[in-house]
Amino acid sequence: MSGTRRTSKGTALSNIGSYDERLKGFDWGIAREILGWEEGDLLNIGAICSDRVCARDGAGKIALIWEGFGDRKATYTFDDLRVYSNGFADFLVGQGIEPGDRVCVFMDKIPSLYFSFLGVLKMGGIVQPLFCAFGDESLEVRLASAGTRAILTTQKHVRKVRKIQERLPSLEKVIVVAGDESKLKDGEVFFDVEAALRVEEFESHAAGPETRSVLHYTSGTTGQPKGAQHVHDSIWGQVLTTSWVLDLRDDDVYWCTADPGWVTGTSYGIIGPWALGITQCVLDSGFTSSRWYQFIQDNRVTVWYSAPTAIRSLMRDGEEVAARFDLSSLRHLTSVGEPLNAEAVVWSEKAYGLPFLDTYWQTETGSIMITNFPGMKVKPGSMGKAFPGITAALLDLRTHEPIGEPGKVGLIAFRPGWPAMFREYRGQDDVYRSKFVGAADDATPDELRTNEDLWYVSGDRSSIDADGYFWFVGRDDDVINTGGHLVGPFEIESALVEHEAIAEAAAIGKPDAVNMEVVKAVVTLNPGFEPSGDLELSIMNFIRKRLSPLAMPQEIEYVEKLPKTRSGKILRRYLRALEWGEEVGDLSTLEHD
Ligand code: PRX
Repeated sequence: MSGTRRTSKGTALSNIGSYDERLKGFDWGIAREILGWEEGDLLNIGAICSDRVCARDGAGKIALIWEGFGDRKATYTFDDLRVYSNGFADFLVGQGIEPGDRVCVFMDKIPSLYFSFLGVLKMGGIVQPLFCAFGDESLEVRLASAGTRAILTTQKHVRKVRKIQERLPSLEKVIVVAGDESKLKDGEVFFDVEAALRVEEFESHAAGPETRSVLHYTSGTTGQPKGAQHVHDSIWGQVLTTSWVLDLRDDDVYWCTADPGWVTGTSYGIIGPWALGITQCVLDSGFTSSRWYQFIQDNRVTVWYSAPTAIRSLMRDGEEVAARFDLSSLRHLTSVGEPLNAEAVVWSEKAYGLPFLDTYWQTETGSIMITNFPGMKVKPGSMGKAFPGITAALLDLRTHEPIGEPGKVGLIAFRPGWPAMFREYRGQDDVYRSKFVGAADDATPDELRTNEDLWYVSGDRSSIDADGYFWFVGRDDDVINTGGHLVGPFEIESALVEHEAIAEAAAIGKPDAVNMEVVKAVVTLNPGFEPSGDLELSIMNFIRKRLSPLAMPQEIEYVEKLPKTRSGKILRRYLRALEWGEEVGDLSTLEHD
């Protein structure tokens, strides 16, 4: 099977050209050439994605086609993007926000989310996007960790902020950008950028390559979520991968289905495409197959970046639904976030005449690392090959030595130094250091990220075949991947034991046909509590409200006792193996009665 297709105009659709040619003499500087960016030009993601596009004849081009629930629709040009992001930047400066301050954006996928994201970057702030379905506890942990100074939200979500605000001394400004101004509480500020005076000029912060830009929280096995900190220099990695993997051209209409609360929604739902001056569409309404297909048909979407869970949902509804719509505008489909099963690739060829091409990367990597390209032979079920400029290898699971032979399973690892690589886990240098094999005990984050003798270890297992294609095997830790979203077991367990009925808890992933995994809780109860339907509902709702619908257990198992190591740590690994019918492995550390 080949990913190469031709447009009706007959041009081959591949910005990358020959993969082998691109490997030779590769230089990230090609990204600068693509943007025509020269040394001395302003390096600021917010300005590059709006002002720079306008200055290069793009002002009148549509930047954003937006649709919400019902028939709410709006379109914005790059000039609107420029002016409204100026509006946010100017407003934040007026509120006393300074370069380097963390500013959280916490809202649905409304236009102001996109304007404010760029606006924060323009004024030199660190933008911290958070998924708006997060409950107050998930929000609090991440705002506390970041020392966030301002939050931009909507009337719909502000009540969650109100619940936690007094425990967050750094959070000085609560700014409501949509809703009913009269419903604000004392101390909250209202700012509707589209109703405010247009800010035609704003001098964007002259960022350096290492100036902090986007702060994304991601979950690990132990401890609370970690803030992966990115920098303005990441743009070169995002631009080049957007061009070569997503294959975007001037006349494309591009749809990235990810929410900017997650890294796909910022690297490829804001930064890469808008830096290239591409028209993007955003659909801010719930999922149904027909709604999605209607959106593609109405907007003549050409390039689509989505996730396996969505593809499996579309698959479940069948080709007949797809056949009811005119999807002939589509020319390139890509996927990320979870294993893209071979059946989904084969099905998409049948349903849309195009295979979904898999891409692999992480919040920490900031840009696509292993991927299929248009024009490259697609092996359904494989993630593809390393992006040019990326040195990827598998390390032995125990010794951490690179593995030579094809087919053997190891840990996916990368040589540090690519532009979009995260620069630190905010305030957690030890955890950052633990991600590198061969790191000196006292190495600083800067030394680690520039030392090409080290390996950054992803935490995922894979094999490589003789052609250099990576085949995903699974995670090397206990993090649960539900519908392409990572949820940390520790965060769920910490919340579970706050429920009055629960004494101890373990959170594990259980197999799910559509979401790959969903959360399952295994709990012991406090004296006086008995398992019941009501209790189950109460626990589920407790987690949904505090954390998020993603973290809510879909099943609760009550046990007398949880398996533990001798040192008292709950053995999730054991529970997970039981759940998945896998070998239980070495239990020598299991507690003895
Ligand atoms: O386990 C891998 C899985 O998602 C993790 C990264 O999640 P996050 O940091 O939230 O970023 C998601 C989008 C970039 C990885 O460590 N993952 C990502 N892409 C794939 C994948 N698993 C299998 N196949 C993929 N293509």
